[in-house]
Amino acid sequence: MQVHFDDVSLYGTPKEEPMPNIPIVSEKVSANFLKSQLQSWFQPTDNRLAMKLFGSRKALVKERIRQKTSGHWVIHPCSSFRFYWDLCMLLLLVANLIILPVAISFFNDDLSTRWIAFNCLSDTIFLIDIVVNFRTGIMQQDNAEQVILDPKLIAKHYLRTWFFLDLISSIPLDYIFLIFNQDFSDSFQILHAGRALRILRLAKLLSLVRLLRLSRLVRYVSQWEEVYFLNMASVFMRIFNLICMMLLIGHWSGCLQFLVPMLQGFPSNSWVSINELQESYWLEQYSWALFKAMSHMLCIGYGRFPPQSLTDMWLTMLSMISGATCYALFLGHATNLIQSLDSSRRQYREKVKQVEEYMAYRKLPRDMRQRITEYFEHRYQGKFFDEELILGELSEKLREDVINYNCRSLVASVPFFANADSNFVSDVVTKLKYEVFQPGDIIIKEGTIGTKMYFIQEGVVDIVMANGEVATSLSDGSYFGEICLLTNARRVASVRAETYCNLFSLSVDHFNCVLDQYPLMRKTMETVAAERLNKIGKNPNIMHQKDEQLSNPESNTITAVVNALAAEADDCKDDDMDLKENLLHGSESSIAEPVQTIREGLPRPRSGEFRALFEGNTP
Ligand code: CMP
Repeated sequence: MQVHFDDVSLYGTPKEEPMPNIPIVSEKVSANFLKSQLQSWFQPTDNRLAMKLFGSRKALVKERIRQKTSGHWVIHPCSSFRFYWDLCMLLLLVANLIILPVAISFFNDDLSTRWIAFNCLSDTIFLIDIVVNFRTGIMQQDNAEQVILDPKLIAKHYLRTWFFLDLISSIPLDYIFLIFNQDFSDSFQILHAGRALRILRLAKLLSLVRLLRLSRLVRYVSQWEEVYFLNMASVFMRIFNLICMMLLIGHWSGCLQFLVPMLQGFPSNSWVSINELQESYWLEQYSWALFKAMSHMLCIGYGRFPPQSLTDMWLTMLSMISGATCYALFLGHATNLIQSLDSSRRQYREKVKQVEEYMAYRKLPRDMRQRITEYFEHRYQGKFFDEELILGELSEKLREDVINYNCRSLVASVPFFANADSNFVSDVVTKLKYEVFQPGDIIIKEGTIGTKMYFIQEGVVDIVMANGEVATSLSDGSYFGEICLLTNARRVASVRAETYCNLFSLSVDHFNCVLDQYPLMRKTMETVAAERLNKIGKNPNIMHQKDEQLSNPESNTITAVVNALAAEADDCKDDDMDLKENLLHGSESSIAEPVQTIREGLPRPRSGEFRALFEGNTP
């Protein structure tokens, strides 16, 4: 059937098929209505699975159209019908897998109406499930979005995979066996007679085939897990599944512990006879059987008494093996979970361990070891991320957003950024690199050629002149090392870390690249640099050697930015300092001002939202 896009409503959902305009509600109309309702139920809806497979509503609409063309009674795996059907099947399966072994092992009344009704009903539903499976599209592992909707291909695929197991576990082999056994009906009258009893026991064993339905449970659970619990919760889900599976196997093992002696007619050396449970109430029998099974499975003991008969011994061995396997799986998964919970801390510990071994191997002096250890503690704060790798895996836009978010407090604290164009800020922050310096480190050496400039996130640095005199100190929100990059000359002063300093560096290439795009920001920086040079007694004219004459609006803008920066700096410092002076040096102190007073007012290093997020970047 050719379907056109006219079939699609404004909101991207296929339009309902128009009802025939017949005034009297005839049978045909209601049948049509039912059919269209059912068919719409078979179509993919915008549930989580569909969205995961097709990505957008538009693709979903296309898929609906594709499904329509592939035949009327094909059920899409992302349809509401399949979702609710799977849910019902899941509940029925769980009920079956719990009730069946109990009923088979502890109730002799195999032909009671209640039991037959339960079996018939569940067998019928499982048989219907096979029919539904023959009409349900198949999601391919390698090509997820191309769901197989051709009924022939679906059937072929199903026949090749789960059909046989599903069929065996759904057909009532026990009843068929009983019906086909001619003699049974005659000997039924004398149920306890040997032959009838044997037949009944065989039928009981055949009914165990229903437990193969476990394969469906595994299938459904793993599919749901993949769709609905993909990330962190999935680890918990796996452990939860494993615990449930362990309990289920324990339950089965318990039932088996009782079933085998029961089929043997409770020999005198079987555990049931030893415990005198032959005639007890089923719940008591079940409880002792479960206790016995659990004791084996958890390798705690043999239950009340150790096995006396050969059968008991084999059964004990079987449940020991299955229990130990489950236990090992559980331990493995739990360890995995615990490790994955704190992988960054584990990585940090591994790194520190390696560094310690390296320091011992290289026989580094004690104080150097101390400094290295302190550096690690301060920089990584107990967690290690390969941030470059993490950010590298994000989309460009997302990466930019994350970096902008991470740098929000830097941007807020640096007046130069706070007043700048947001595109400029974004361009700069995406190129910054986090670096940590320890007290006493020479960050910049006078007379050397500079390759980067720095923004101070936290900490205090001293600007040291050639004669060793401290010209000024810079702290949070200030920047330095820009003069050399602006003039292409050598560093005009040394810069020394006074406290632990968390800095962000900008390389010369990125610096030039960004400032070429924003000449106004270059001019602003040059104005500040000229003032700085002036202050340390160097010739400020080197800043403007290449400068063309500024146009009026441009110089006005610079003044505006400079004034805004000044106002901001004034707000931050809240003292009587000259506004412009303050602006030009960030939150720095003058030579006359004792550095100590400034330092006392500085905040303690923050616990490191930045550090944590930038620690992958090595200086
Ligand atoms: P640069 O020459 O690249 O390296 C040393 C840095 O010290 C210099 O850039 C300026 O950023 C900074 N600096 C020099 N003098 C002063 C000053 N008076 N006030 C603030 N910072 C200064």
